[in-house]
Amino acid sequence: LEHSTTTLPLKGKRALVTAGPTYEAIDPVRFIGNHSSGKMGYAIAARLQRLGADVTLVSGPTSLKTPQNVTQIAVQSAAQMFEACEAEFQQADIIVMSAAVADYTPTVVADQKIKKKAEDFSIALKKTTDILATLGKEKREGQTLVGFALETNNELENAIDKLHRKNLDLIVLNSMQDKGAGFATDTNKITLIDRARNIHSYDLKSKEEVAKDICMHIIAHQTAL
Ligand code: CTP
Ligand code: CA
Repeated sequence: LEHSTTTLPLKGKRALVTAGPTYEAIDPVRFIGNHSSGKMGYAIAARLQRLGADVTLVSGPTSLKTPQNVTQIAVQSAAQMFEACEAEFQQADIIVMSAAVADYTPTVVADQKIKKKAEDFSIALKKTTDILATLGKEKREGQTLVGFALETNNELENAIDKLHRKNLDLIVLNSMQDKGAGFATDTNKITLIDRARNIHSYDLKSKEEVAKDICMHIIAHQTAL
């Protein structure tokens, strides 16, 4: 194993990765969530670790096991994920936000189980903090900030807009065109876009292979700094 230390491109680097969904509590037994499996983020965390980085994985609820030699912080809500990320961000060289964070959360959490009554029912929601955009504002020299985008229309245009709006170095556009890409699958089809508008489109492949492609770009960005 000794020989590998010289070939670890991310040795001495710290990485922060988010993964999975968030659960936004409605009452003690219910929440608003989404179908994110966490697989993409876990694959990225595992890959960064194998490339030599010291990796912290902030994860929403998933059924996956923590990748080897990765420090995991388990969270439920967007607010908890934000707090965990803020605590880790300053020390991180590489930040990859692959979590499917809820955009809205209930304005109030009922302290008892809500009983059914009227025929119609609605829940008041308020916006969550955009974790990625907040970190983008705090970004310093030497950091590589990577975000994801899930779009159904004007994919490239929307992704490029997100890249600039959130001050990212790299954005991973999840292509929804292909069956077998995205949520709750083992494969993904992505397009990577950087600030220089270099656009790399990849074929449908396993999330482990996709993680390798993303990490190649992260290494290139860290090396160029
Ligand atoms: N993200 C985040 N915090 C939020 C919402 C999103 O950190 N409260 C991050 C995601 O982890 C992802 C990126 O922002 O890396 C883009 O998420 P996406 O849902 O595609 O974009 P939004 O900015 O939320 O816009 P919209 O859902 O309206 O397309
Ligand atoms: Ca969103």
